Amino acid sequence: MGLSKKILVIPGDGIGAEVTTWGKAVLEKIAASFGHQFTYDEALMGHEAIETTGTSLPDETLAKAKASDAILFGAVGHIKYDNDPSAKVRPEQGLLKIRKELGLYANLRPIMLFDELLDASSLKREVLQGTDILFFRELTGDVYFGEKKRTADFASDLMNYNRYEVERIAIKAYEAARVRGKKLCSVDKANVLETSRLWREVIQEIAKQYPDVETEHMFIDNAAMQLVKNPKKFDVVVTANLFGDILTDEASQIAGSMGMLASASIGDGTGFFEPIHGSAHDIAGQDKANPLASILSVALMLEIGFGLKEEAKKVTNAVDQALKAGYRTGDIADSKTDKSKILGTKAMGQKVLEYL
Ligand code: IPM
Ligand code: MG
Repeated sequence: MGLSKKILVIPGDGIGAEVTTWGKAVLEKIAASFGHQFTYDEALMGHEAIETTGTSLPDETLAKAKASDAILFGAVGHIKYDNDPSAKVRPEQGLLKIRKELGLYANLRPIMLFDELLDASSLKREVLQGTDILFFRELTGDVYFGEKKRTADFASDLMNYNRYEVERIAIKAYEAARVRGKKLCSVDKANVLETSRLWREVIQEIAKQYPDVETEHMFIDNAAMQLVKNPKKFDVVVTANLFGDILTDEASQIAGSMGMLASASIGDGTGFFEPIHGSAHDIAGQDKANPLASILSVALMLEIGFGLKEEAKKVTNAVDQALKAGYRTGDIADSKTDKSKILGTKAMGQKVLEYL
């Protein structure tokens, strides 16, 4: 029996529309070949939304999001705001608000390594080979959501966590570790921050319920170093919002490019699936963006959002086959890549569809 699902596509800004087009095309193909009924709607968010409605997350988008079974998201951001610290309305606010409103407290960022891309990374092949990390980044707390204050010469962002916020992400991470490599590394800054001391206390508490999982605590500065020194030592990593934001961008280099990393944000309701890369305005509209992170986000939607393991595997395999056949977008090409196999967004998306 096929599944019936309502999917909301929020392309957002910059390369968002170019990449989500291919994520959606992959969903359509999967639905057709497995007999699922996926219906689609679209909504605005970010800079585009500000320009047309005055707010980065229009009420209509939020209502549609809450009414859908999954969201495929592109990116938000615009250079206009990056160099304007005084801007009152910013594209990123929409993303933060939707995470909060949908209760998306767990952001899963798998560092998946395709063997063919080992040379696309700036790190050495022998350091990378065999790495398989699953990050659990807390997504609705921390300094991202604490009270903000500003006068002409003073600024403050409050960093805070409640016990339950740490507990629920810890449980998600431990459950995943249990069915993976049975290792969990909790990253904090407990030598300095009170929030991290609460974090560590809670992890130690939850760890007792998972005696089969080996728990390690690591300071964020050390973790940032270990991640490039010996990434293989990590299995599941659980960390706070800000630390997770930074560490996962760093970890994207392990996978070769930001253009390869997908993520799933889950929690109380509708799941949200998005590449970790941003709006990349410098290449927007030029058919240069890598659609693979969006396509791999669709694989996460199928697996985590809908429980469709076989369908998800099919998508990942199609990406793998396109890479094995030598096809690359600019961001994952290296000096050994056959120039004729360096593809634009559309041709790469098309290739994946062919292998599907
Ligand atoms: C991410 C992004 C966002 C974040 C920005 C766009 C607000 O960097 O999803 O990692 O900081 O969470
Ligand atoms: Mg980020």
